[in-house]
Amino acid sequence: MATFFLCLSSCTPSSPSISSPDGRITIGFTLSETVPHYEVSFDGKPLIVSSALGLEAEGVNLSSGFSLKKVKRYSSDSWYDIPWGENKHIRDNHRGMVVSLRNISGVELSLDFRAFDDGVAFRYSYVTPAKDSLKVMDEKTFFRFASDAVSWSIPGNFNTYELLYRTLPVSEVDNANTPFTLKSEDGVYMSIHEASLIDYPEMTLSSVGEKDFVSSLAPYPDGTKAIVGPSFSTPWRTIQIGEKAVDLVNSSLILNLNDPCVIDDTDFIRPVKYVGVWWGMHLGVNSWTQDSRHGATTEHAKEYIDFAARNGVDAVLFEGWNAGWETWGKGGVFDFTRPADDFDMEEVVSYAKDKGVSYILHHETGGNIPNYESRLDTAFAWAQSLGIHAIKTGYAGGITGGYNHHGQYMVRHYRRVLRKAAEYGIMLDVHEPIKATGERRTYPNMMTREGARGMEWNAWSAGNPPEHQTILPFTRLLGGPMDYTPGIFDIQYRSIIGNKDLQAWNGPIATECRCNTTLAKQIADWVVLYSPMQMASDLISNYEDHPAFQFFRDYDADIDWSEALNGEIGDYIIVARRSGEKYFLGAVTDENSRTVDCPLSFLPSGRKYLATVYADGPEADWISDPYSYTIDKKVVSCSDTLKIVMAPGGGQAVSFIPAE
Ligand code: NOJ
Ligand code: CA
Repeated sequence: MATFFLCLSSCTPSSPSISSPDGRITIGFTLSETVPHYEVSFDGKPLIVSSALGLEAEGVNLSSGFSLKKVKRYSSDSWYDIPWGENKHIRDNHRGMVVSLRNISGVELSLDFRAFDDGVAFRYSYVTPAKDSLKVMDEKTFFRFASDAVSWSIPGNFNTYELLYRTLPVSEVDNANTPFTLKSEDGVYMSIHEASLIDYPEMTLSSVGEKDFVSSLAPYPDGTKAIVGPSFSTPWRTIQIGEKAVDLVNSSLILNLNDPCVIDDTDFIRPVKYVGVWWGMHLGVNSWTQDSRHGATTEHAKEYIDFAARNGVDAVLFEGWNAGWETWGKGGVFDFTRPADDFDMEEVVSYAKDKGVSYILHHETGGNIPNYESRLDTAFAWAQSLGIHAIKTGYAGGITGGYNHHGQYMVRHYRRVLRKAAEYGIMLDVHEPIKATGERRTYPNMMTREGARGMEWNAWSAGNPPEHQTILPFTRLLGGPMDYTPGIFDIQYRSIIGNKDLQAWNGPIATECRCNTTLAKQIADWVVLYSPMQMASDLISNYEDHPAFQFFRDYDADIDWSEALNGEIGDYIIVARRSGEKYFLGAVTDENSRTVDCPLSFLPSGRKYLATVYADGPEADWISDPYSYTIDKKVVSCSDTLKIVMAPGGGQAVSFIPAE
């Protein structure tokens, strides 16, 4: 015993801590009255003050009675490549410590802490005396902020992320989903999220005091939060930290905390830009059902394929191609191998193939998981036999059995589908998904997902406010790419006024709605709202002969490198990306006009580029003149500075193509 205590006091500090490789971020551990606690500081100033850690489970104490056994430190600095992403070449440089604890019930807890230059993370690993499985009833991870930071978040909700963002001091936030992004009173930016959510419910945050929050997990219908084995690990709890708002966007912390790729042959995984029969349904001029307004007919599909082939668009998507839409939301089931009578699947697929256009299949599950899982193998095998390598899935409506969309039951389902898709060589674009937590590193066929209010809301509601796209990159997109589906050129839906087929379907009729944007901002969104499957979502008739569609022709969804150059959350953001030899820049602003000088120093030196600038017109304004835009061309180099002038609710997009 004596030796043990000697060792504990001389070799194991009672309050161990680690700092990031640059020494600026520190995460420290203490045991306070037998309960584990942590705290986080930046440049010596507290960001998170001593906050308790622990889980609650049925029949076993996972939260208190602990004593410290040992602390093991480690460090790692390595680079890895991913097949696609904002950046394909990524550095993972961190310091770590595993704090080993044991409590009076014989429970062993290892708390693994990591400090990176762009934030910290920790996770729980338990070994319990439980026999087969254990019911986790709660997680009590506290986040006690040192200051009344301003925050950007959507409300905590276990079934949807399609909610409007709020800008609030933390003292006024009741509950929030993650990524929960904040700016401290000292001006330090932070975002709380999670990484590697594999077999556990999602974590949201609930207020328990003025500046204090506790984790809140999405439950099963009976209130259980998670069912785990006798030894288990939680996802990483992450806190991205930066001096500038764009540091959060440029962080790779979430990917660094996921396992490397497990797919041997990733050749089928290719970023694409796409068009599709989709907006017509949301506008209410087409239908998913087989009637006179049916969007996914063989004829209509061929028009989209012809358009894609003519315009260098890689892929097409046709929603409403299959049986089941007639009873959508009325208890019927979808069939994923039976095309609609007026949609000749084989003909459409071979027509696309002949034209060099790839086909994105659509699986709306309607939330009926037993139906989808029972058909999954057959459906994926059929897709594979047709040479299809991408599927957009959807989970609109309640989940059969009363499960939460974001609980463990669904996390397991989404993972099962992802693994199965990998087996059949299929990329996924998931709507009504679980939040992105970096699983794309392990399964790079997990391309993109919705998981926030996307374009569709503009067709049948008051729509997304102009600040929405200036918040998404600093919140939702920190988790991973989003299938926002930007690029609506007919902003006020002028082309459907008087259309005899127009019907309201999910709220007010489309002609009473609009997109709260200028045209140039729609183009800029293709760059700002990163997605490896990027859609030009408008009706193709609105793109035909439109000079500004040239940007989408030039754009390449297969990005190699990206950097968020400048921005403030809820105000504006400017992002540069590279694909091969081409560079693209996107800048978007909120409802305020803005002029920003942007040095082009990201371009390689010694080369000239032809810059094509898609800007707001002199009179452009998202309310009064949203269609006004200009296109200018000039030769530039890395020593030039671009003056970016954005109208209220506007933006700017630039393509840079080597000039010689
Ligand atoms: C909601 C999805 O977000 C949308 O893209 C899709 O068109 C509908 N569900 C129907 O599946
Ligand atoms: Ca949706």
